Amino acid sequence: MKILVVGSGGREHAICWKLSQEKNVEKIYCAPGNAGIAEIAECIDIPVTELDRLADFAEENKVNLTVVGPEVPLVMGITDVFNKRGLNVFGPNKECSQLEGSKLFSKEFMVRHNIPTAKYKEYTDLEKAKSEIDSFGYPVVVKADGLAAGKGVIIAKDKKEAIEALETIMEDKKFGDAGRLVVVEEFISGVETSILALVDKNTIVAMESAKDHKKIFELEKGPNTGGMGTFSPSTIYTDELSKKVYDEVLIKSLEGFKKDNLEFRGILFVGLMITNDGVKVLEYNCRFGDPEIQSILMRLESNLSDIMMAITEDRLSEVEIKYSDEAAVCVILASGGYPENYEKNKEITGIENLDKEIVLFHSGTKLSDGKILTNGGRVLGVCARAKDVESAANKVYENIDRIKFDKVHYRKDIGRKYEQCK
Ligand code: AMP
Ligand code: GLY
Repeated sequence: MKILVVGSGGREHAICWKLSQEKNVEKIYCAPGNAGIAEIAECIDIPVTELDRLADFAEENKVNLTVVGPEVPLVMGITDVFNKRGLNVFGPNKECSQLEGSKLFSKEFMVRHNIPTAKYKEYTDLEKAKSEIDSFGYPVVVKADGLAAGKGVIIAKDKKEAIEALETIMEDKKFGDAGRLVVVEEFISGVETSILALVDKNTIVAMESAKDHKKIFELEKGPNTGGMGTFSPSTIYTDELSKKVYDEVLIKSLEGFKKDNLEFRGILFVGLMITNDGVKVLEYNCRFGDPEIQSILMRLESNLSDIMMAITEDRLSEVEIKYSDEAAVCVILASGGYPENYEKNKEITGIENLDKEIVLFHSGTKLSDGKILTNGGRVLGVCARAKDVESAANKVYENIDRIKFDKVHYRKDIGRKYEQCK
């Protein structure tokens, strides 16, 4: 079959890499792709937001399945556009994608279906929000309702910061229209983790676990990023926790979709906080986590194309999904300054010096005059598989310094103890 992958990051590179090893996949296109993806797929110069052009391309090239990586086109309704034209697409429709596209929609869904989450209230009126803010206690969490490239959540430690957060979002409109409405939430503390679940109309199946490290610096210090590294399986996600999450969150989510007539087909990403008071859902996303899926796909032995095809046809319960018992680690090389301001167009060298067991996924790169240049905050994901997490991490870290670009930054504690960081 012919597959079109929509997106240009490490997640999409990992998807293309997996698909490229599957016998039934004869051709992979990627729109727009990146320098690494270009080695295994034909990159098509169409932005992820140009839904009609993507559908035209899929139709003209007789694409059998389009796989949507990022949330933006999903929330814009790419699935509805494709389905209307009879084109097969992997990813939830516009209505279901509101689980990621609107914090309020997801909170209301959770409350309606008795899925544990932090207490909240929504506001469109700044003065009202300010006057009620004390009632949540401090710290308090202020969230822009809409998509804000992962930056729309502010944790305010006191009243002054909370008022500033409300003003930044509602008055200064830092996140534009995404901040028309805010969700204010009680702060919950605990251990944060997440799980990706495959979903069709009748079935929900958790994938293998992967632990993401969101903070820019070692020991979870500094600002949040899109994710600086992952390892799979996650040491936090025990069998006991897995059962709890299935019973209290996943199955209730599926039942909720049925009751609400939401035909969710695709990936449900569940962000979780393990608190003293039980498991609570922080957020839903409607796509694979990046870089969670890089580590997970390093371990997936079944065909991803078969799984995705089955989901679009509501046959998920019929497919066997097998993973390697080995562990995988993925460490992100980022541009210095990320997640704030950073420079692009730095030449990347040394890729050819990596050991052959290393799998390199490009996140933000581009080709220019035969050179590979940095083209984003997260630049590369260096991945390895081995008998356990520590061995996989050791393989990654033995290789990582061979890749060079100006102002490169990476975390040294992904999948290993801080004491092992040199
Ligand atoms: P979200 O996009 O809603 O997952 O929020 C981004 C990050 O903010 C999460 O990964 C958590 O680290 C943190 N966060 C969100 N909501 C809460 C909450 N109610 N209490 C504590 N931390 C939170
Ligand atoms: N790594 C977190 C995310 O994809 O949202």
